[in-house]
Amino acid sequence: MAVAPKSLEWSLPVPSVQELAIRGLHTVPPRYVRDDMDIIITVPSEPSLRVPLIDMTKLVNPDSQEQEIQRLHSACKEWGLFQIINHGVSDESLSNMKEQVQGFFDLPLQEKKRWAQKPGSLEGYGQAFVTSEEQKLEWNDMIFLKNIRSLQDRNLNFWPENPPEFRKSLETYSEDMSRLAVSITRFIAMGLGVEAQQYSETYREGVYNMRINCYPPCPEPERVSGLNPHTDINGITLLLECGDMAGLQVLKDGHWVFVEPINGALVVNLGHVMEIMSNGIYKAPDHRAVANKSKQRLSIATFCNPNSSVDIGPAEKLIKSGSPPLFRTLKIEEYLQHFYNRKLEVSFIDSLKI
Ligand code: OGA
Ligand code: NI
Repeated sequence: MAVAPKSLEWSLPVPSVQELAIRGLHTVPPRYVRDDMDIIITVPSEPSLRVPLIDMTKLVNPDSQEQEIQRLHSACKEWGLFQIINHGVSDESLSNMKEQVQGFFDLPLQEKKRWAQKPGSLEGYGQAFVTSEEQKLEWNDMIFLKNIRSLQDRNLNFWPENPPEFRKSLETYSEDMSRLAVSITRFIAMGLGVEAQQYSETYREGVYNMRINCYPPCPEPERVSGLNPHTDINGITLLLECGDMAGLQVLKDGHWVFVEPINGALVVNLGHVMEIMSNGIYKAPDHRAVANKSKQRLSIATFCNPNSSVDIGPAEKLIKSGSPPLFRTLKIEEYLQHFYNRKLEVSFIDSLKI
């Protein structure tokens, strides 16, 4: 039996879900059965629970800016998640990235495995956070890539070279995502009333990680978890849907609400770094993904963080204005160490509270 990983940064190897799916099983293997979770995939979301939609052209236009920032502020406070349209990223960049990701997951398993995770690293093609042989598994294959914007720190060994344009598309796309993260965080900071320019600039040379998710079709989608409920730990996440089938759900007022894909939009959700920066005014939402009976779903999540010289803590301006800091301030390395070596039973954000 393999030795259990020492920290969550190391995942045990498990079978490819795509390979399971093409076997044409009628039931899912026991390791994937989550009858303990309430997975609702057929009930339509309540109409009153509509995921907010933010229009970037209204944020930049001086005539509509104030009102749209107000809507953004409410979205961040009440949902911690919204969709953004007219974001300025070219259709070409989005569609190239989607095509390359589709092309990668269409490759035979042996070929994909050229970029497989290695023991001791979360990066590469495989599955995340598998730390015991008994653990229930998610209906998800993925590629995880760290530090994609840093020429020095990224590890190209895990960047697929097949399809041949994969790396080039990822390079362009990630540059677009960093530019978008700078502008979104600027408006978010404006909504909070903190130093907007100064804060958003920390995302320009920030730390960017990426998780590319593949949710193969599943014979019993209501019995599996595509991606377990979690909150993201970074600043903001920019999620691109590769198709039009809903799979992402956000927890809002006790309901799991589907985020319906909108062609050309990106889903933005806040992570713990933003929750901490806002001193708890904004919340990083719980979210999860569900599988589908007949169709494979692909999504591309870009995890955006300030650069590593910036401490993770409540914005000074919010503290100066009188509210006591709710969270400790940590260096980013400390923050990540804390995350990867935490006990799964303890809520990560709670462990950072003062
Ligand atoms: C993630 C995530 C959701 C999705 O990768 O952190 O929440 O719909 N993905 O794939
Ligand atoms: Ni997530």
